[in-house]
This record gives sequence, structure tokens and C-alpha cells, in this order.
Amino acid sequence: MATGYPGNYGSTVPVRAPRTLRRDSVTFITTFGTSHTAAGQVVFPRIHRPAPSLVPARDGLKPHPILLPEPDPMLSIKNLSKTYANGVAALTGVSLDIPTGMFGLLGPNGAGKSTLMRTIATLQDPDSGTIHLGDLDLLANKAEARRRLGYLPQEFGVYPKEPAITMLDHFARLKGIVNAKERREVVEALLRQVNLWDVRGQKLGGFSGGMRQRFGIAQALLGDPRLIIVDEPTAGLDPEERNRFLNLLSEIGEHVVVILSTHIVEDVTDLCPRMAIISRGQVLLTGEPREAMASLQGRVWRKTVPKAALARYQEDLVVLSTRLVAGVPVIHVLADARPEEGFEAIAPDLEDVYFGRLRAQAAASAA
Ligand SMILES: Nc1ncnc2c1ncn2[C@@H]1O[C@H](COP(=O)(O)OP(=O)(O)OP(=O)(O)O)[C@@H](O)[C@H]1O
Ligand SMILES: [Mg+2]
Repeated sequence: MATGYPGNYGSTVPVRAPRTLRRDSVTFITTFGTSHTAAGQVVFPRIHRPAPSLVPARDGLKPHPILLPEPDPMLSIKNLSKTYANGVAALTGVSLDIPTGMFGLLGPNGAGKSTLMRTIATLQDPDSGTIHLGDLDLLANKAEARRRLGYLPQEFGVYPKEPAITMLDHFARLKGIVNAKERREVVEALLRQVNLWDVRGQKLGGFSGGMRQRFGIAQALLGDPRLIIVDEPTAGLDPEERNRFLNLLSEIGEHVVVILSTHIVEDVTDLCPRMAIISRGQVLLTGEPREAMASLQGRVWRKTVPKAALARYQEDLVVLSTRLVAGVPVIHVLADARPEEGFEAIAPDLEDVYFGRLRAQAAASAA
């Protein structure tokens, strides 16, 4: 972090508390607990980074060194490749630039999402390629990288007999928060933030899927990470827990890089200003969901068709998706002009983009 000196009237540049000092307190979470709206909806507290503090320089006194703002870190992945010993090419030349905010990594089973996330989390090495968070070369500085990142793996194992608060305290110690008072404060703040304070004494083995995922996010937030990696966190959550979890992530994503992998298109539509589609180890598209949807404008058509005719449509047209509505197939088709009577033009959604890209990849590899 750069240092600077304020003028007589203080610096006009907003400054931030140093990250190493922030560890000494839990001021980065200023709102404790949750509240409820009139409709009974839970409102999560916001993670709040310290307000810019200016160091006033008084006449006759030497100006104090102050900290200038750190630019928001960008995660920059270049040409990452990984082939497992069994010959599976899980990543082939993956390059992505991921700014602060929620980033959705969308891909089907076996796409390479977990491989990519484990690699970014420095838990496995690629065969080639580089990953930088700002200036930091993550693969060359793993210890420092791990201090700066939080990771919620796809399979998040916990000791089932441990109470949540004991386990989180243990994780906090592992993360290097050695001062007991500080650790207590951090653990309490995080349990409140993920709305598990009231059940802090319960054993993790008795937690529901949603509670376990919220606990997983709490441990990923320890140490105030700049980069948070969450691997398919919403799979298996009921709609209410999914919403609650996504709200929590989106609050976190206001300040840091959050990479969310998922095969659920709505997770990305609802939450992520930027995204990538990955399949068979390759990036098929990266950018803003809005732009990706706009690029298909006027080319997506919908029709309700008889079940018996479905196979013929699939053969003759580029069918992006088939959904049963009250047992009757409704198809989305990609075409430059109306394919036939009865098709209506619709506003493309992200699922159309997603299936369109997957189909194009499959067609290219079949050719
Ligand atoms: N340790 C491993 N050894 C060998 N092959 C592996 C290993 N881990 C993953 N693979 C293979 O690499 C490919 C990518 O797997 P990966 O788990 O990264 O995909 P994913 O996108 O996370 O899938 P899912 O949505 O099912 O979690 C798959 O074909 C998988 O079988
Ligand atoms: Mg996975």
C-alpha cells in the first residue's frame, strides 16, 4: 500500500485504514445482528469497511504518514491449463480478468469449475499459466495468497460434533488470529453476520444445508480476505435459504472479488454483474450477462409444441431449451428469422445464452 503525506488541511485523497491494522479490531463489521422488515424478511447486516480517515496535519507539526487508497484488486488469470494424470484435460488455456464484485462462473458438470477454483485457491498447481491478484503472483507466493483469500469448497467438511462457535474459533486460530480477545470479537461478528449467532452452541452435524453453507461463508470471511472463492454453494438449498445465501454474498461482493461457481443460471442472472461460461475446460464467453443477452436480441423464438413432435424440432432447429409447462413442452429456438408459424419472438434470457454457447461448442467439436 502506498503512503503519502497530507497537506496542512489534510489529504484530499480518501484514505483507508491499513489492512494489517484492521485485524486489530472488528470495525470492518459495524452493524451487528440482523433485522427484519415488516414482511418478516431477514435483512443482513452490511459488511462495512472503515470510513476513510484523514489524518489532520496541525500547524507546526510534522505531517503524519498516511495511507493512500489501494486500487481495487483485479484477479487476472492467464492461459491456465491442467491435465490430470488420467488424461482428462480439465482446463485448456483459461484466461479471465475478474474485477471487484460478484463474478459468476457458469458451467455444466465436469466443466472444470472446481479445478479452476482449487487452482486459484492455491490448493493445486496448474501445468502452465499464471494468476495474479493485483500485483501478487498467487502461484509463486502461496502463503501470502492464502492470507488474502477465503475459500468455500464444493464439499465443505466440518467436524459434526463441534459446536459452530468452537469450530469457527478454531478456523480463526488457523487463519492466524492469535489474540484471544480479537478472535472472540471476530468470531462473534461473523456468526452474527451470517445469522448463526442464535445457534452458535449447536453442533455442526445438526445444521441444515443452508446453515452449513452460511457457516462455510463465515469461515471463508476470516482474516478479511480480498478474494473469496465459493464453489457451487447454492446446490441443494431451498429457495429461501438460497436467497438468503445469495444476499449475503452480494453484500460481501460490494468490496472484494467474489467468484461464485454454479451450474444454476439464475444464480448468475440474479447476482453477478460479470460472468464467464466455461465448458470442457474452455472459456466460451466472458462479460456482462446483460450484454450477452442483448447479443441474442431478435433471435430467440418460443413455441409450445406437441410432445410427439419434439424430436423433429430438435433435429430440424437449434433448440436451446425445452421446458415442460403443465406437462406440455415449450421450446426456445435460436434462429435469425421466425422458423415457422406459431413461434413468437421473446426477450433472450441468460439460459438462452448459456445453452446457445454450449450447443455451439458441441456442434464445433462434432464437425
Ligand atoms: N483429481 C482428479 N483426477 C482426475 N480427474 C479429475 C480430478 N478432478 C476432476 N477431474 C476431472 O476433470 C474434469 C473437470 O472436473 P471439475 O471437478 O473441475 O468440474 P466441475 O465443473 O467442478 O464439475 P461439477 O459441476 O460436477 O462440480 C472432469 O472431467 C473430472 O472428472
Ligand atoms: Mg465442481
